Amino acid sequence: MQVSVIVLAAGQGTRMNSDTPKVLHQVAAAPLLHHAMRASMSLDPERTVVVVGHGAEAVTKAALAENPDAQIVVQAEQLGTGHAVRQALPALEGFAGKVIVLYGDTPFITPETLEKLANSAADVTVLGFHTDSRPQRYGRLVMEGDALLRIVEYKDATEAERAITLINSGVVACDAAVLADLVAGLTNTNAAGEYYLTDIPAAARARGLSATAVTCPEAETLGIDTRASLAEAEAAFQARARAEALENGVTLTAPETVFFALDTHVGRDAIIGPNVMFGPGVTVESGAEIKGFCHLEGCHISRGATVGPFARLRPGAELAEDVHVGNFVEIKNAILDEGVKVGHLTYLGDAHVGEHTNIGAGTVTCNYDGVMKHRTTIGKRAFIGSDTMLVAPVTVGDGALTASGSVITEDVPAEAVAIGRARQVTKPGLATRMFERLRAIKAAKTKGQ
Ligand code: UD1
Repeated sequence: MQVSVIVLAAGQGTRMNSDTPKVLHQVAAAPLLHHAMRASMSLDPERTVVVVGHGAEAVTKAALAENPDAQIVVQAEQLGTGHAVRQALPALEGFAGKVIVLYGDTPFITPETLEKLANSAADVTVLGFHTDSRPQRYGRLVMEGDALLRIVEYKDATEAERAITLINSGVVACDAAVLADLVAGLTNTNAAGEYYLTDIPAAARARGLSATAVTCPEAETLGIDTRASLAEAEAAFQARARAEALENGVTLTAPETVFFALDTHVGRDAIIGPNVMFGPGVTVESGAEIKGFCHLEGCHISRGATVGPFARLRPGAELAEDVHVGNFVEIKNAILDEGVKVGHLTYLGDAHVGEHTNIGAGTVTCNYDGVMKHRTTIGKRAFIGSDTMLVAPVTVGDGALTASGSVITEDVPAEAVAIGRARQVTKPGLATRMFERLRAIKAAKTKGQ
């Protein structure tokens, strides 16, 4: 069965009280929209249509970053979920198969649940969940056995209907041609004056078609509409990610202090210390160790490498096997070959460091001249003395050494020693004479007061 997906993402999210469109608020370092789109990728959809409206430009950019093949449709005025789906239909022209409508602000729907929807035999299948909390925002599923008679929105419901505990998640699966037909017939004669997508089960039954509901745990349908629910979603994501990491054989010394991103990969037998933050795009291979208080983003840490405590790896940091990055070290867009040691207080940016090179404390690759960025290349088994400033573009050859405190502005050939600092001058006895003079000046001043 071919599947296509419509993701509704046009709403403003007034209750977020924000200039940022709701679906661009982040959970696990990724916009809510990416979560919903990523879950739908498991169905290998033939087409993905994203309906944008508020903040259309930014939302479009985010949608295409997640799936460059997504088709973007603009819903200029938000006249309801049914109206939003109507805007998406031309983009599905010629598609025969099942369409699944998802919400961009509902991040936790699982591939298994989407699979259940895709495999449902009914003409219209709605995803519901059970709850006793009588939520006011949500529609109720009115069932008769397995048949879904209709969905009633809270605003339009009677007291008896409001007491129903089977709730509409908003996610719907429907044959493409049937959906087009049903959506064309929607009206806005309801309490909100909107075109409700939720009217389609009843419309289907009126035409002799079948409608049913499948269910999932309430946690999967958590929709974000306030900052509080965003924080709740973050907490829920992190709790799951931590449990999964532990399950997969990762040691987390203090799990509740580690924050994962949507796409973090950590291998078996890796050890993650307390207070480690993963931004997007991090892979930690098996057996690597990240000590406490590290901030990692867009980087790759190979087997046997150790990082931190208090290290920052930024996008493009690539650590080969057995690399050691110690405290107060920042690495950006730099490749560190096997066995490189960068122990303390160092910035390496736009650089390549050859295998088994030692970078002394306080080394800086001066990669920015105020206008452009430049590269530093350091060979194998080199020794960069403490407090070396490497003024890029510059190359240090294999087995070369830079003297501590050097400002290296010219290339250093292999096996050479480069010293770029003022020669030391030593004056015997001068310190004592200077202190005596200064003390005498101070004493004279005190007397005169
Ligand atoms: C909808 C359902 C309700 C369900 C609830 C679950 C309808 C009429 N009601 O409620 O039964 O329990 O979701 O969360 O469908 N959107 C657009 N364009 C619009 C309107 C909405 O793109 O014109 C998008 C929003 O950005 C959001 C999603 O659709 O991602 C849901 O809209 P929202 O207003 O949050 O849902 P409700 O109407 O409250």
